[in-house]
Amino acid sequence: MSGAIGVFDSGVGGLTVLRALRKAMPDARFTYLGDTARLPYGTKSAASVVRYAGQAADALLRQGLSCLVVACNTASAIALEDLRTRLAPLPVVGVVEPGARAAVAATRSGRIAVIATEGTVRAGAYDAAIRRLDPAASVTSAACPLFVALAEEGWTDGDIPERVAHRYLEPLLGVATPPDVLLLGCTHFPVLAQVLARVAGPAVRIVDSAATTAAEVAAMGLAVSGPGSVRFEATDGAGRFARVGAAFLGEAIREADVTVLDLGAA
Ligand code: DGL
Repeated sequence: MSGAIGVFDSGVGGLTVLRALRKAMPDARFTYLGDTARLPYGTKSAASVVRYAGQAADALLRQGLSCLVVACNTASAIALEDLRTRLAPLPVVGVVEPGARAAVAATRSGRIAVIATEGTVRAGAYDAAIRRLDPAASVTSAACPLFVALAEEGWTDGDIPERVAHRYLEPLLGVATPPDVLLLGCTHFPVLAQVLARVAGPAVRIVDSAATTAAEVAAMGLAVSGPGSVRFEATDGAGRFARVGAAFLGEAIREADVTVLDLGAA
C-alpha cells in the first residue's frame, strides 16, 4: 500500500513517537494529527475516546495512508480494536504492546511500575500486555494526569515537576520490594524523563514505547517513496502546537506548516 504513515495523538505527546519513527524511517512520508481541541483524552470516558479516535483516523484515512500509528496510549488502550475493525485491512499499530515489550526487556526483577493517564490505567491494557509477555511479572500502575498538563505547559524541569513527581511516584516506588522499571505509559511523559529519573533514582530504569513502536513499524516493510517529510495537522491552535510541539519532536515546527482541521465537520 502506498501513502503516508498516519500518526495520531490527542495532542503533541505523540511527537515523541514521530521523532523515533523519523529516525527509524528517514525516507518515509508522515502525516501527524494532534487532536488538540479535545485534549486531554486521559480523563474522558471510553465512549468519547473511541469516538474521537475514530474521527481522527477517518480524517487521516481520507488522505491515503499506508499504516496508522496510534501514538497515544489512552487511544491505544481503549480504541485500538475498534480502529482495527473500522480501518481493516489497513495496518494499525498502537503503543501499548511495544511499550510492554520494552518494559519486559528492561526488567531484571520482573517488577514493573506503569505511569499513564486515568483512562489507560482504568483500561488495564498495560497489565494485560505485560502479563501476556511475562505471566510472572508484577505490575503496579498510577494515573498521573498532571504530568500531561506540565508537559503541555513546557514545565519539564525544576521544582514544580519534581514535587509533582515525588507525590505520584512515592506510592509506586516507596514500597518494600520496589520495581526496577518505570514505564512511561503516556506519550507526553518522555519530555519529563530527566525529572522522573532523578526522583526515581539510579536503581530504576525509565522506558517508553517510542523506539519499540518505531522498530515495529520499520519492520513492516512498508513501501517508502521518499523524500522523507512530515505534514502537521491539529484540531486547534497552530501556534501553540508549533511552539509546544518543538520540545516533543526535538526540532522546530513552523506555525505556517500546521494545518488546522475541524474533525466534527470533516
Ligand atoms: N498522549 C496521551 C497518551 O499517551 C495522553 C494525553 C491525554 O490525556 O490526552 O495517553
